[in-house]
Amino acid sequence: MTASSRDPQATLEDKWGAGPGFSGIVTFAHFETCRALLEPEKKFDIGIIGVPFDTATSYRPGARFGPSAIRQASQRQSEKRGYNLRAGYNPYKEWATLMDCGDIPVTPVCNEVALEQMTDAFEELVLRRQSASMPNHPPRYIALGGDHSIILPHLRALRKVYGRVAVIHFDAHLDTYNSSKKNGYWDSEKTRFTHGSMLWMACEEGLISEDYNVHVGLRARIGGKDMDDYHEDTSQGWMRFSTDDIWINGVPAMESVLKKIKDRIPEGYPVYISLDVDCMDPGFAPGTGTMEPGGLTPREVIYLLRGMDFNLVGGDVVEVSPPYDTSEITATAASQVVYELITTMVEKGKPEIPLLRKN
Ligand SMILES: *[C@@H]1O[C@H](CO)[C@@H](O)[C@H](O)[C@H]1NC(C)=O
Repeated sequence: MTASSRDPQATLEDKWGAGPGFSGIVTFAHFETCRALLEPEKKFDIGIIGVPFDTATSYRPGARFGPSAIRQASQRQSEKRGYNLRAGYNPYKEWATLMDCGDIPVTPVCNEVALEQMTDAFEELVLRRQSASMPNHPPRYIALGGDHSIILPHLRALRKVYGRVAVIHFDAHLDTYNSSKKNGYWDSEKTRFTHGSMLWMACEEGLISEDYNVHVGLRARIGGKDMDDYHEDTSQGWMRFSTDDIWINGVPAMESVLKKIKDRIPEGYPVYISLDVDCMDPGFAPGTGTMEPGGLTPREVIYLLRGMDFNLVGGDVVEVSPPYDTSEITATAASQVVYELITTMVEKGKPEIPLLRKN
């Protein structure tokens, strides 16, 4: 090819529109971007929203850098080569307008103010927006954490639109620690909002379903053989699947877990999928705060996610802590999870499927 044989009619788009994945300003999977909190007129159907907050973390911090690491690790994803072989279509080329909405500004020095900021921001994003393809329906969001506590403000906003939502929670830990219990001598109300108690708070606030919530991937140590942690968890309407429930007996075990979850959650019920990367084995997700050996593989996580064809009204991927990551392993797995969640949202959230359901 010589210079003279190039098409003289080529447009600027032909010439400069497509570069390699590693070029350009970084947005999730090269989506169009806006500062959604500053541009309320911007219309889209599915938004990626970063929540760089990690001061409710109990062990290794750093998840405040999670959103930018997940975006960076998503650069090999694009509309052009976005076909999901397992799902049989390209979620980036369907009906949905996808948008990287930027980050919610959150203070790292006061959790009370931070929770107020996040609650206000999610209400702004969810309650005062209309989806591009579905007037009278809000866009749906996948939040990039941040530590796991960022789910609470997201659920608060969703509650006002959909009523209670069923939470499918991938995690090594329960995260339903009873936040009304005193934290010893130095107890204060403000220390009770943590990345291990926010699901308890969500239940106390009436945000989540009474009977349909599910944990997947549990394996962390608990308080004692009286199993109080599990009894309290059960009292809040959770079903539990441990990591061993998933890998022992292989695919039939995963199919049986999926069937139990599907039998539990009524058709059409609004579902939220929250994935803490520590559900995966530390070998596959070293970049996180509270590692627990003996976890799921990304392969199992993807398989399970593809089997969860629910009415997904929101989701998140949390606890990616890039300072502890190696070779972008954790952030890349997290960006794949986002891709799978978007795939489900696009497939099950078509404009012709009625979505609003107050319960
Ligand atoms: C949660 O803790 C509070 C304070 O200790 C206690 O009164 C309450 O019974 C606990 N809830 C459950 C369901 O165990």
